Amino acid sequence: MEKNENAKKFFANRRSISVKGLKGPGPELGDTFKIIQSGLRVPDHGKLEPWRAILISEKSKYKFIDIIDRRGKEIFIDPGKLEKNKRNALDIPLIIAIICSPKESSKIPEIEQILSAGALCLNVLNNFLVCGWGANWLTGWMAHDRKFGEEAFNLVETEFVAGFIYVGTYDETPPDRPRPKAEDKVTWF
Ligand SMILES: Cc1cc2nc3c(=O)[nH]c(=O)nc-3n(C[C@H](O)[C@H](O)[C@H](O)COP(=O)(O)O)c2cc1C
Repeated sequence: MEKNENAKKFFANRRSISVKGLKGPGPELGDTFKIIQSGLRVPDHGKLEPWRAILISEKSKYKFIDIIDRRGKEIFIDPGKLEKNKRNALDIPLIIAIICSPKESSKIPEIEQILSAGALCLNVLNNFLVCGWGANWLTGWMAHDRKFGEEAFNLVETEFVAGFIYVGTYDETPPDRPRPKAEDKVTWF
């Protein structure tokens, strides 16, 4: 593959945009599918495709918010936090739930399938960022609560939510957070 200066620059500087800075409009459906198509180019040992994605966009938002509200109250999520969850779902034009969907395999351990789902989250996130959208990978109780996942996404027993990728327009890139130095993270064998 040829050296790509733009890609180098993107990866040297990439960062997520906080959900607080995300607003409409969001990408059109055609662009969303193109971006996800690129996002699906992730390492996947054994080609098991141990993931799926669910789009929560303008049309399905109210149903999603209703489930957040009902289940959040049922499990006593802090009211302020619940309000924020609902507000994000309402204000941010596109949310993509990435579901890890491990497959039965005698060869590929489940952990490798989970890692592939994590890779998919980051790859989808990066593909939105590189196309100029603001995006952020979040989890929280909506990812971890079993009943929420079953009701909202029809999760089967082996599945779980690997992450929600929130996508929208943003005005300003907020200041970066401190990043680890390679010298501090890498040792010699
Ligand atoms: C698996 C996973 C789950 C996360 N869940 C949350 C979350 O629920 N709430 C939150 O504020 N940040 C969460 N984060 C962190 C955000 O993605 C955060 O914005 C991220 O650190 C930005 O990093 P970047 O700028 O390098 O992309 C999560 C990160 C990961 C990897």
